[in-house]
Amino acid sequence: MKAVKIFNKTDLQIEPIERAFTIPSAWYTDQQILAYEKEHLFPFCWQYAGTGNVLPESGDHKPVTATGTPCLIVRDNDGRLRSFYNVCKHRGGPIATCPGNSKMLKCQYHGWTYRLDGSLRGVPHFRHAELFDKDAFGLTPVELRDWEGMLFLRCEKGPVDLHELLEGISGRISPVRLNDMGFKKRVVYDVNCNWKAYVDNYLEGYHIPHVHPELCDLLSIQDYRTELFPWYSLQLSPLKAKESIYSPGGGEDQAWYYFVFPNMMLNILPGRLQVNLVEPVTASICRVIFDYYYTNPQAPETDMLLVSDMKYSENVQQEDMEICEQVQLGLQSRAYDKGRFSVEMEQGVYHFQKLLKKFFRGDFANRGNKIYPENQK
Ligand code: FES
Ligand SMILES: [Fe+2]
Repeated sequence: MKAVKIFNKTDLQIEPIERAFTIPSAWYTDQQILAYEKEHLFPFCWQYAGTGNVLPESGDHKPVTATGTPCLIVRDNDGRLRSFYNVCKHRGGPIATCPGNSKMLKCQYHGWTYRLDGSLRGVPHFRHAELFDKDAFGLTPVELRDWEGMLFLRCEKGPVDLHELLEGISGRISPVRLNDMGFKKRVVYDVNCNWKAYVDNYLEGYHIPHVHPELCDLLSIQDYRTELFPWYSLQLSPLKAKESIYSPGGGEDQAWYYFVFPNMMLNILPGRLQVNLVEPVTASICRVIFDYYYTNPQAPETDMLLVSDMKYSENVQQEDMEICEQVQLGLQSRAYDKGRFSVEMEQGVYHFQKLLKKFFRGDFANRGNKIYPENQK
């Protein structure tokens, strides 16, 4: 398979963490690798697409992007949520450019109309077209699933179902229920680093004393630990301070930091959830979305909580962005290719990179993923 030639075979080998090297710097800098990921990784993986409760009525629709792919989420006449590529079958125009409600969907370019089930309805000024089968020009569907009130899209059939991807999270965080939380605020950051450099950084607490010294008063770094699961990892750090941003009023001091392969984080705290999504833009730029959810999004006290949460996150995020941008320059330099892992502190980074290698190697090919040559007769 042509695309596989961009990978050096030894770089795809999986060694135990004690002996493993980190993925090579080219994976963070090469446009070809990014193009490969956009073609062969992200379309096969579930992508977080916000919450469904903003579309209560039939005809409600909103455009979203799934790692750069324009998609549209629609509530159809039966009250069911559906998703399509937000791409008209005439000449590729957008069906919707902002959220709205309508009985049918109308392309913004030349006005072709589609029913809420995606079938093509009206085609203006097309009387003289020959051999034109309207049934073959419906919107292309995208797989849509709901988990705990959040929506996930997948453009191509991939190796894992959504419930399998996230299995065990709801039980682990109980009695906290993500479904009880409502969307409050979105903040977007553009960061000058490859999306994987940002993910790597999220996945370890090794850097905390050096990059976030102020957090050492809050977190008990020596007790920091990472747990690994098939498709996600969980970071836990007991909190030192009983009265803190994490536990206003004290008492409830449990926090869960989930990373879900390949590019989503769920930061769960009592009463609130912060979802992070890391989207590639170019090989050396990523976009990081922070969505804030709260148990009582409309309550006046939630506004105060949001302000203090955002202030806290903003500080940490600035520190993380600065170090990730410096790391990107290091990865681009001639001085660096591959490094090694701290067995105590970098289990999460190793786990992410191992899943990535497995994806690229085709280890999931027999599970519905049709991108690998050994699976193609
Ligand atoms: S591109 Fe949609 S009607 Fe022309
Ligand atoms: Fe950090």
